[in-house]
Amino acid sequence: MDEARRMKRLPPYIFTIVDALKREIREQGVDVIDFSMGNPDLPPPSNVIERVTDALKEPAIHRYSKNDGVIEKKLRKVIADWYENKFGVRLDPDTEVLPLIGSKEGIAHLSLAYLNNDDLALVPSPAYPVHFNGVIMAGGILYNLPLKEEEGYLPDFFSLPKQTTDLTKLTIIGYPHNPTTATCDLEFFNKVVAWAKGKNMIVAHDLAYSDFVYNGAKAHSILESKGAKEQCIEFHTLSKSYSMPGWRIGFAVGNKKILAGLAKTKSYCDFGIFRAVQEAAIEAMSGPQDYVKKISEIYRKRIDLFVDGLNAIGWETKKPNSTFYVWTRIPQKFTFHTSLEFSELLLREVGVAVSPGSGFGEYGEGYIRFALVEPDERMKEALTRIKKVLSL
Ligand SMILES: Cc1ncc(COP(=O)(O)O)c(C=O)c1O
Repeated sequence: MDEARRMKRLPPYIFTIVDALKREIREQGVDVIDFSMGNPDLPPPSNVIERVTDALKEPAIHRYSKNDGVIEKKLRKVIADWYENKFGVRLDPDTEVLPLIGSKEGIAHLSLAYLNNDDLALVPSPAYPVHFNGVIMAGGILYNLPLKEEEGYLPDFFSLPKQTTDLTKLTIIGYPHNPTTATCDLEFFNKVVAWAKGKNMIVAHDLAYSDFVYNGAKAHSILESKGAKEQCIEFHTLSKSYSMPGWRIGFAVGNKKILAGLAKTKSYCDFGIFRAVQEAAIEAMSGPQDYVKKISEIYRKRIDLFVDGLNAIGWETKKPNSTFYVWTRIPQKFTFHTSLEFSELLLREVGVAVSPGSGFGEYGEGYIRFALVEPDERMKEALTRIKKVLSL
């Protein structure tokens, strides 16, 4: 049976290729050290696990979620309070907050909700894959803007011709940025909001890494910019800050009309979030926040250990000021390889799995991304193994 033409237009999902390779290598009995996915390895806060354990005993917890339920309303209120506390922006819990089954789900459905076949979506490249794949799956026209290292990985929307911006219905950005680890200041958001003003365009900001900034870098909400609520929404997730990637919970905030359109699309696809997971999110976001500081410090130390280690074995790499990723060029000696080929080499030769830069879009080619979701001892072991490859 032939897939829909829309689906055939998707680029090969590089991470599926890497996954298949990992499986093959593991089947050969190799102990793979896995830096390929941003899949946190740390345990979630213990109070969250306790809350869910209790919640599971409540009969109503197992029923379908409904928008005006007690838990649902409480969750939206907790999100609004968390947001105000963090970014100084007040949200209406009932209209400006939309819980999601993870932010990836919301980002994909945003394109489905808003893009027609002749609408253009501006997506900088490299990017977190659902930013561009969501556009393609929805049948929209994808317009990639290159992010360049020498420009701090910030997109230049501002010199795009009017014909392009007139066709643009959606722009998707995200800082701290996955995969490049770039951050931006509030001035950049002010410029984006001023540029979008008056255009028939949604600006979506993906803020998955707001808690992982180091060395004086800051993570801003785009809603801090004056006028942003006119046409912006922002995505957040509990996957990273509370180490709950498998629980599937995130949320979108911002312009209420845009969120209502997204909620409408979702209402035809899902029945909301398991209520026990909503209780977990309430506990995580309204409980003590020292957990978040603690894990951010763990990731910062991992970055120090790993990047110092890479440089020591001759793989020149800059230290990131955000996220838990390391984004680095393929070592000089191996630049005749594509990023997928070099990733395959690392995996086959020494059992180290990484993400090829090309998985994040055409402008990610030439780079490798490490996700530091392995403990210190495993990272040290990986450095020893990578050294062997560098001396091949
Ligand atoms: C930038 C970015 N956005 C969204 C997500 C997806 O998060 P969630 O688990 O909430 O779907 C990720 C996960 O790696 C991410 O890096």
